[in-house]
Amino acid sequence: MRDSFILTGILSILLSTGCTSFRSPYEPKQTGSLKGTFKGDFTIGTAINTDQIREKDATGGKLITDNFDAVTPENIMKAEVIHPEWDRYDFSLSDKLVAYAQKNNLKVNGHTLIWHSQLPSFVRRMKDADSVRQYFTNHIKTVASRYDGKLESWDVVNEALEEDGSMRRSIFLEKLGDNFVVEAFRLARQASPNTKLYYNDYNIEEPAKRAGAIRLIKKIQDAGVHIDGVGIQGHWNVNYIPLKHIEDAIIEFAALGIDVAFTELDLSVLPNPRNTIGADVDQNAEYDAKLNPYTGGLPDSVQKKLTVGYESLFRLFMKHSDKIDRVTLWGVHDGQSWLNNWPVMGRTNYPLLFDRQLKPKPAFYKIIKIKENYSVNNQNHQKNARINQ
Ligand code: G3I
Repeated sequence: MRDSFILTGILSILLSTGCTSFRSPYEPKQTGSLKGTFKGDFTIGTAINTDQIREKDATGGKLITDNFDAVTPENIMKAEVIHPEWDRYDFSLSDKLVAYAQKNNLKVNGHTLIWHSQLPSFVRRMKDADSVRQYFTNHIKTVASRYDGKLESWDVVNEALEEDGSMRRSIFLEKLGDNFVVEAFRLARQASPNTKLYYNDYNIEEPAKRAGAIRLIKKIQDAGVHIDGVGIQGHWNVNYIPLKHIEDAIIEFAALGIDVAFTELDLSVLPNPRNTIGADVDQNAEYDAKLNPYTGGLPDSVQKKLTVGYESLFRLFMKHSDKIDRVTLWGVHDGQSWLNNWPVMGRTNYPLLFDRQLKPKPAFYKIIKIKENYSVNNQNHQKNARINQ
């Protein structure tokens, strides 16, 4: 009796603190899975964190393998983790990731070789160009060659552009000059000829930045260097999803003869204190309760906006599925999203397709339905075309 009393007490504490081990179980494949639904259209992926790579959450793990056919490590392949010191690499988590993916038949999208952010401190301290060049070369050669053919793709360079389409002021631009992106792709291709190579950035659907991305990709191609695709990150807000720009970007990037992927899709429902768009990780603002309106749950009206947002995006993705290689969500469920802590720490956001209890949200069911209707309409269209012949 006393034992069961203690047990009930522990259980209620765990539940009230949101302990993930006591989530109500995810019920898989009730009405289709994401990967089954979009099979033959594009790969569907998710970003995963360290606990998920270590398989510490059986329910979440089942959700991942049921719904996704690709994973991107949210942080553990970034330079500060994988290359913490000049002559020391730490592949423990990335090797685990590759093993986990192989076991579960998941493709891995490597993220990321060259990025100005999350650099190890020894690089941030570098003053002379020679050291930066040596780091840059060694890093790409060592990391990319280790996983050649074991990864589906690499985000070779991440976020090298400013909003106006010019090159971002970064340690790489400053010390290596604006050819560093071409050089990164050249080195990555030599080290990893059996993995697809992508340029990845946010807001590159916006006209000025898109023009900059096109210039950059052409520069790589004109140098005779291999590039397979471009990743549009896709960090949008339910109040601003630039569908026309996104469609133009898909068409214009595909016209360069490369694949298009949506690599970090999520839709914030919260206000951005500075009214900016995108995902500049250096942005941050003070917490203010007014900026965190949905701590008690998401109102129906906002849930609807989220559903409509995902619906319109997936309609567009279906329309251009011949040009789109992959759509990856940036996180598995709302509780895990980086958007709970950016650009304001400690908020409650709802940007993904699965909620904090790992339950599929209305947006999940909606996009599955779109595909079912899309298939029926296409069959009717083809049937009518045959009849009219
Ligand atoms: O590594 C420390 C850890 O030692 C410490 O215990 C913990 C305590 O807070 O912090 C850990 O670092 C955090 C790291 O994520 C790993 O969890 C950082 O504070 C936090 O800033 C970092 O955020 C990541 C962010 O990139 C940082 O650059 C997000 O999880 C990740 O989702 C986000 O991903 C980026 C893409 O790589 C590129 N595109 C934009 C996207 C969203 O910002």
